[in-house]
Amino acid sequence: MSKLWGGRFTQPTDKFVEEFTASIGFEQRLAEYDIRGSKAHAEMLGRQGIVSVEEAEQIIAGLDGILQDIEAGKIEFSIELEDIHMNVEARLIERIGAVGGKLHTGRSRNDQVAVDIRLYLRDEIDTILDYLGKLEAALIKQAENNLDVIMPGYTHLQTAQPVLYSHHMLAYREMIARDISRLQDLRVRFNVMPLGAGALAGTTFPIDREWVAEQLGFDGVTRNSLDSVSDRDFAIEFCAFAGILMMHLSRLSEELVLWSSADFSFIELTDAFCTGSSIMPQKKNPDVPELVRGKTGRVYGNLISLLTLMKSLPLAYNKDMQEDKEPLFDTIDTVKGSLKIFADMIAEMKVRGDNMRIAAARGFSTATDVADYCVRKGLPFRQAHEVVGKTVRYCVETGKDIPELTLDEFKQFSDLIAEDIYDYVTLEASVNARKATGGTAREAVERELARLQNCKCGSCTCN
Ligand code: ARG
Repeated sequence: MSKLWGGRFTQPTDKFVEEFTASIGFEQRLAEYDIRGSKAHAEMLGRQGIVSVEEAEQIIAGLDGILQDIEAGKIEFSIELEDIHMNVEARLIERIGAVGGKLHTGRSRNDQVAVDIRLYLRDEIDTILDYLGKLEAALIKQAENNLDVIMPGYTHLQTAQPVLYSHHMLAYREMIARDISRLQDLRVRFNVMPLGAGALAGTTFPIDREWVAEQLGFDGVTRNSLDSVSDRDFAIEFCAFAGILMMHLSRLSEELVLWSSADFSFIELTDAFCTGSSIMPQKKNPDVPELVRGKTGRVYGNLISLLTLMKSLPLAYNKDMQEDKEPLFDTIDTVKGSLKIFADMIAEMKVRGDNMRIAAARGFSTATDVADYCVRKGLPFRQAHEVVGKTVRYCVETGKDIPELTLDEFKQFSDLIAEDIYDYVTLEASVNARKATGGTAREAVERELARLQNCKCGSCTCN
């Protein structure tokens, strides 16, 4: 097949060089967007009298036909035609003749690829926002359905204070809500149209960029042609968003792996999200959270690949930038897969409230409540800390838990302690004492759930 840029060349391209430089192998998912961009461009060329209206119509009909053929699997992309842009354009010329060659007037592959990636990424972002919303809803459902469940709250993975399981789930909702708002944010920033920048300096034809931008759903046009063809910030920002999201999913994964172990037995993942062992018949492995935790690594890697790719590139377009696609596509695929599976897994997760409660009662989780009690009776906090430290040591030595101590035993450590101490050292009392906004008290968590239900912002980061 003859090259669209063959005019200047006297020798054919080396076969291996051709394979090495081609991007069509991983660019096919851009086909639909490439055609959408080209159709808008062709129509504009007709409106502006740069080509005739009939020619524009022929080009548009030709592009529609190519899209149908692609969707029907009738088109074989060719490595000799290097990338998606030239594959489509060559088909167009094959189909409608020389007039197809007018499509590329006032345009370059450099601004074309920049618009294609944006159109594609924008669609994927909308799908990802949808998946994020589903995961957020599943976390909220877990919280609503398990308001009675008290679990140990940890610091240093040591039992610290009892918390509501619902509160713990809503902590992850906060992270997901921030992810949603980060994604909405970057979508606004990148939704401007680079087409019209030409190869780097703009074009000599009287194009109407604003009109094309509107047709393609962009909020405006880019303001500098050099930047338009050399900017990949949006891909980097997206990968940064994805890295943070995967870090969140990985933290949740880690907890799910721990919680589904025999030692914790806090939750049960549905069989669909686990697999067995080929040798140990008793095993039910939490593969899904393990894999999501593992996949976090490649998403971080993709971010670093893109940052490293763009570092030190002189303005404007450089072929290096063709390497932006695989990390970006892989990030999109990984994030979509992880979110989809996570939303379903969280929605179906079963909670073992009995085991969480037993664990919450272990480890002297209400010790801080005894200290706060002493403070309310007038003891400075530092001294109260000392009193309870000694109380806990006594408990360890005698094998007792704090609520099991008799009043006389309590009084060995401070005679400020009276009968009403028992109102403060139960798990419920400890949890429900933390009523201020953001605390774990049932009433605070219920207030939060009500706020989320009434929230109209769509990402629930408003207050
Ligand atoms: N396949 C190329 C890319 O992804 C398209 C732009 C090519 N431009 C060029 N001047 N070779 O970056």
